Amino acid sequence: MSPPAFSLRPAIEADYPWLWQLKRDTMRGYVENTWGSWDEVAQEAFFRRNFSPATVNVITTGHHDVGLLELVHRPHEIFLANIQIAPAHQSRGLGAAVVRTVQDEAAACGLPLCLQVLKVNPARRFYERLGFTVTSETLSHWFMEWRA
Ligand SMILES: CC(C)(COP(=O)(O)OP(=O)(O)OC[C@H]1O[C@@H](n2cnc3c(N)ncnc32)[C@H](O)[C@@H]1OP(=O)(O)O)[C@@H](O)C(=O)NCCC(=O)NCCS
Repeated sequence: MSPPAFSLRPAIEADYPWLWQLKRDTMRGYVENTWGSWDEVAQEAFFRRNFSPATVNVITTGHHDVGLLELVHRPHEIFLANIQIAPAHQSRGLGAAVVRTVQDEAAACGLPLCLQVLKVNPARRFYERLGFTVTSETLSHWFMEWRA
C-alpha cells in the first residue's frame, strides 16, 4: 500500500487554538502518566511561550489539517521537537510517511535526526521501526537518534 499523501505548510498565528487542542488531545495522557497530573493553566502557558510559527509546520491531507511537525535545525543535528497526528488520523501510516521525509532531509544534510520521547509513550516502538536507536535516557525520557 502506498504511503498516505500529505503536505506541510508553515503554521500561522491563527492555527494556535487548534494546535493547542491537538497537543492536549495527543499528549495529556502521557504527561499525566509521567508526572501524575496535567496542570491546564501551566501547560497552556508553556505551550504559548514556546509556540513558534517559524519552526512549526501543519500537516495537511487534502484540505484538512491533521497534525503538527516541529523541527529545529541545529549545526550538528536536526531535532524533531514534536510530531502529533490527530487521533482520527493515527495508525494509517501518516506519521511514518512524515518522519521518512525528515529522514531524507537529514540524510541530504549529512546530519543525524534526533528526538526525545516520554518513556510512557508507545511511540518509542514507532521510531524504532523507522530505524532510530536509543542513545541515552533520563528518568522520564528516551533520547533517540537516526543516522543515514
Ligand atoms: C506517534 C505518532 C506520531 C505516529 O503517527 P501515526 O500516523 O499514528 O503512525 P503510523 O500509522 O505511521 O504508525 C503506527 C504506529 O505508531 C504508533 N502509534 C499509533 N498511535 C499512537 C499513539 N496514539 N501514541 C503513540 N504511538 C502511537 C504505534 O507504534 C503504531 O504502531 P502499532 O499500530 O503497531 O502499535 C502518532 O500516533 C501521534 O501523534 N501520537 C500522539 C502524539 C505523540 O505521541 N507524538 C510523539 C511524541 S515523541
